Amino acid sequence: MNKISLTRYLVEQQRDHGRIPAQLRLLLEVVARACKGISQAVNKGALGGVLGSAGSENIQGEVQKKLDLIANEVLIEANEWGGHLAAMASEEMDGIYVVPNRYPQGEYLLLFDPLDGSSNIDVNVSIGTIFSVLKKPEGPSAVTEQDFLQAGRHQVAAGYCIYGPQTTLVLTVGEGVSMFTLDREQGSFVLTQEQVRIPADTQEFAINMSNMRHWDPAVRRYIDECLQGKEGPRGKDFNMRWIASMVADVHRILTRGGLFMYPWDRREPEKAGKLRLMYEANPMAWLVEQAAGAATNARERILDLQPRQLHERVSVVLGSKNEVERVTAYHRSS
Ligand code: AHG
Ligand code: MN
Ligand code: MN
Repeated sequence: MNKISLTRYLVEQQRDHGRIPAQLRLLLEVVARACKGISQAVNKGALGGVLGSAGSENIQGEVQKKLDLIANEVLIEANEWGGHLAAMASEEMDGIYVVPNRYPQGEYLLLFDPLDGSSNIDVNVSIGTIFSVLKKPEGPSAVTEQDFLQAGRHQVAAGYCIYGPQTTLVLTVGEGVSMFTLDREQGSFVLTQEQVRIPADTQEFAINMSNMRHWDPAVRRYIDECLQGKEGPRGKDFNMRWIASMVADVHRILTRGGLFMYPWDRREPEKAGKLRLMYEANPMAWLVEQAAGAATNARERILDLQPRQLHERVSVVLGSKNEVERVTAYHRSS
């Protein structure tokens, strides 16, 4: 069988569905190339001197790891000169990064979490890069942060690259979800799965159980019922997985189903949650919906939320549809 490269896939998708104009194709190829570079750095680990802390903090008060900054740099350098972008935004940068004047300006906006799962870098557990693509609103005016504040349903492409036992790029442009595995000998991403489907039912959940005492009663009710297993109201046993890299937890859910939750909790009650809406929750929510799953902030559909800030946080409940609906119903009725 002929292998289908990412390039061929993008060209054929444009032919069949008209969703990937040339600038967007360039953008996606550049992001994929940057991810290859990040994958190389991740693979080298201690040999490349990339492990450990960078000794700085980002705007969210989190300690930055060396790889957080390396990945951020790789993505910016790869993307700034191609003429496909107007500006970028990242977990690791306070404000937006406008494409410098010396390069042509494109029509797209790129948001990313350059390295997701930072706490797993040094322990050799899967980590990843998450990205979301928006169209810059029409008009001659210079790009501003306001232009980024679009609800997730307006994304034109979204995906992540997971750096695990395999490096896999997972992508949607609104025609389902496709997965591409990095062929290290060829140096290219090869299509390995199309029309990914999340089963509507599951017996597996992912949540950081150490926060239990801080949870909302609706979250506690849902997890309590799962833990009661066959003897409880659900009448079946549940299994738990928690990798603490959103990319890895979502990748498992896209592969075999499950429920992922990072809900609001009482530790920092003024924050809506831990995860960031624009470059973590929105791209993952769209991927999950495109794979027949669901994603809410425990009350509303994530993709309908109107962002007010670039680094806004949000509660996240995503995965197998019937479980997401159950958790959301428990919240609505409490
Ligand atoms: P990041 O490394 O980009 O800051 O994101 C980490 C996130 C996410 O990947 C994961 O689901 C969650 O933080 C893990 O949180 P805990 O520390 O509560 O496990
Ligand atoms: Mn992250
Ligand atoms: Mn990150």
